[in-house]
Amino acid sequence: MRVLVTGGTGFIGSHTVVSLMEAGHEVVVLDNLSNSHRSVTRRIGEIVGTAPEFHQADIRDTERLADLASDGFDACMHFAALKAVGESVEDPLGYYENNVGGTISLLQVLLDAGVQNFVFSSSCTVYGEPLSLPLTEDMPIGTATNPYGWSKIMMEQVLRDVRVANPDWTVTLLRYFNPVGAHPSGLIGEDPMGVPSNLMPYVAKVAFGELPKVQVFGNDYDTHDGTGVRDYIHVVDLAEGHVAALDRHFDDPGTHIYNLGTGQGSSVLEIINAYELASGQPVPYEVVGRRAGDVGANWADASKAQQHLEWATKRDLAEMCADSWRWQQKAR
Ligand code: NAD
Ligand code: WQD
Repeated sequence: MRVLVTGGTGFIGSHTVVSLMEAGHEVVVLDNLSNSHRSVTRRIGEIVGTAPEFHQADIRDTERLADLASDGFDACMHFAALKAVGESVEDPLGYYENNVGGTISLLQVLLDAGVQNFVFSSSCTVYGEPLSLPLTEDMPIGTATNPYGWSKIMMEQVLRDVRVANPDWTVTLLRYFNPVGAHPSGLIGEDPMGVPSNLMPYVAKVAFGELPKVQVFGNDYDTHDGTGVRDYIHVVDLAEGHVAALDRHFDDPGTHIYNLGTGQGSSVLEIINAYELASGQPVPYEVVGRRAGDVGANWADASKAQQHLEWATKRDLAEMCADSWRWQQKAR
């Protein structure tokens, strides 16, 4: 299939482009490079053998998009978004305009161009504060604690409504838990600009000596060791889940929703310990107060994807840390 991948030079998008191309799909990447580098497509080429077609463009540039879409696509995988929770609190308009407004612009172009298969990067954040665990897809949408989370909830609603108005459309909402790690080649990975807000890339920089220590945001949660528990999923497993979802639901009108996680929770201290083992480096830390907006624990019930997509995660925490460490060490 010929697939348009927005945000395809980003962390998750780039790994999904690799998996799509390895599965034989033709990929066209669109990205405005606001949070990634042009060199990523070259590195994808080193992994796969050929680099994907690339267009530096913004999903809000409807003229560029319409021109591109006129070439014809079988499907669109939509990763392009701003995703920094703290930044979204400071710049709500910027987040709603880029994420919600940008998605609406993209959808209008796709509707006009007759592209009817849409795979969306959603997030476990749409569940809000978990009422019970593990989280299942039939649980109600919660309330977000930040504009980023609200933008995901809004985009899911926009997509549900577009699908109702266009019965031939296939919409697949993939709710990611905590993607971490990197491609085993060490050529692509998570490359946050500035000091990372997410745990694993922060731990990686402490192990590498770029940052002095990890601040553990609270150890008084109702978890086995008091620190926050999350469902960490290897980014390559996540990428492969996208290929499985596209193949399973291609031209399968409806709205299909899946949790993409391992079904296992790991605590902050377990992540630190796993990273020390994988890197052979000490990861000093200090327990500080809770971070505003954090929940104590969440993890997925991943059984629906395992049953319907014939997909399950294959890579464990040790591999997530080892691949992250290899990526951290490579000169970039
Ligand atoms: P990322 O920032 O690495 O990738 C996003 C890409 O989109 C970047 O390359 C950026 O340049 C591009 N982009 C942003 N706005 C754009 C625009 N207006 N036009 C064109 N390109 C634009 O982030 P990521 O971690 O790869 O996340 C990808 C998607 O997955 C996002 O939608 C994010 O909300 C979602 N998600 C991420 C996580 C996570 O923990 N990383 C978890 C759940 C969901
Ligand atoms: C994980 C755990 C922290 C950093 C976020 C977004 C979510 C999604 C994934 C986009 C928590 C603890 C963290 C640190 C710490 N992104 N922590 N010290 O918050 O689960 O999810 O990224 O969709 O929307 O909210 O991920 O990696 O920030 O935190 O103790 O320096 O690590 O308290 O328990 P989170 P995270």
